Amino acid sequence: MNELSGLARAVLAGITPYEPGKPIAEVQREYGLTDVVKLASNENPLGPSPMAVEAVRAALGRLNRYPDAGGYYLKEKLAGWFKLPSSMVVLGNGSAELVELVTEAFVEVGDEAVIGRQAFFKYCIAVQIMNGVVVWAQMPELTYDAEAILARVTSKTKVLFIANPNNPTGTLMEREQVDYLMARLPEHIVAVFDEAYWDYRDPERYPDILEFVMEGRNVVVLRTFSKSYGLAGLRIGYALTTEPIAQALNRVREAFNTNLIGQIAATAALDDEAFLREVIRLNAEGKRYFYRELERLGLEYAPTDANFVLIRLPLPGREFFGKLLRRGVIVRPVDGYGLPEYVRVTIGLPAENERFFGELEGILREEGHI
Ligand SMILES: Cc1ncc(COP(=O)(O)O)c(C=O)c1O
Repeated sequence: MNELSGLARAVLAGITPYEPGKPIAEVQREYGLTDVVKLASNENPLGPSPMAVEAVRAALGRLNRYPDAGGYYLKEKLAGWFKLPSSMVVLGNGSAELVELVTEAFVEVGDEAVIGRQAFFKYCIAVQIMNGVVVWAQMPELTYDAEAILARVTSKTKVLFIANPNNPTGTLMEREQVDYLMARLPEHIVAVFDEAYWDYRDPERYPDILEFVMEGRNVVVLRTFSKSYGLAGLRIGYALTTEPIAQALNRVREAFNTNLIGQIAATAALDDEAFLREVIRLNAEGKRYFYRELERLGLEYAPTDANFVLIRLPLPGREFFGKLLRRGVIVRPVDGYGLPEYVRVTIGLPAENERFFGELEGILREEGHI
């Protein structure tokens, strides 16, 4: 950044760029490994939805065409699913882009955005880029707390971001807490509920955020095809929100922000009920296995409503990450979230999960912790 000082916008100096993990092939080469397991990005271990793959194959001959800038078929299908007009659906290049569209549309210089201290990193960056002010809300017990959020709200607050379930903690802000918050949140705030892991939810405890949208509250629900439908590589997500907010997002949106293949794959994936059922079943089974193993090893963890588990270790998370990498398993250190003793581990296929716990146990033994 030094050579650019005075040229690039000053705010960029304070932004920590996303730290991408190494490609699996590089890890294999570097450490002389043959079998590397990646449990670092909360991807779908079953692969992409087969119905999406079939639709993509059939569409490859049309790559010379621009995508439909209106995302007509996908939006119609989503509108039918959620029983709302398609004018309340906005598509994004992954739900991550929709986070940026929200800040571009609503955050003026100096406006405040309330974000959980252990909430998904993307919100903070999006607010900083707009020269907004990030106001951290504490997350006691690693989960959102309505009072802690309300205590940080001022007349300058423009946006509130909540990932539910949250990444990297996996924790759920339960219905009661959300109702308490929404009953007190001032109208001038746009509340974004990022439900990237919605399909893994426990419906009993899960709040229905769409109800607030239908009531006309300034609420945006974000969802993605990256996780449960296994389409992370195609970058496609969507927002469900009020018409005025949708119009604002469409004004800042690049016309062709979602690609042709992504739109086609997502439209097909919505019909793939058998795949979704299997994804959810496998994740629930994997979660039970994680809990059993963690309890056997005497390790603390955050109860998860998503497809990953936040685990507390008796050694620094980043050190553990390095040791595990050399043994061929990639997980995510989370020290950047103020959680230096933890790592986040995606629930994988049964064999991948067993491999992780085998290596974890090996490291704990080597270090004299068990
Ligand atoms: C809470 C949360 N929101 C959004 C995203 C981004 O998803 P997408 O692939 O749709 O951009 C992620 C990805 O990890 C996430 O964890």
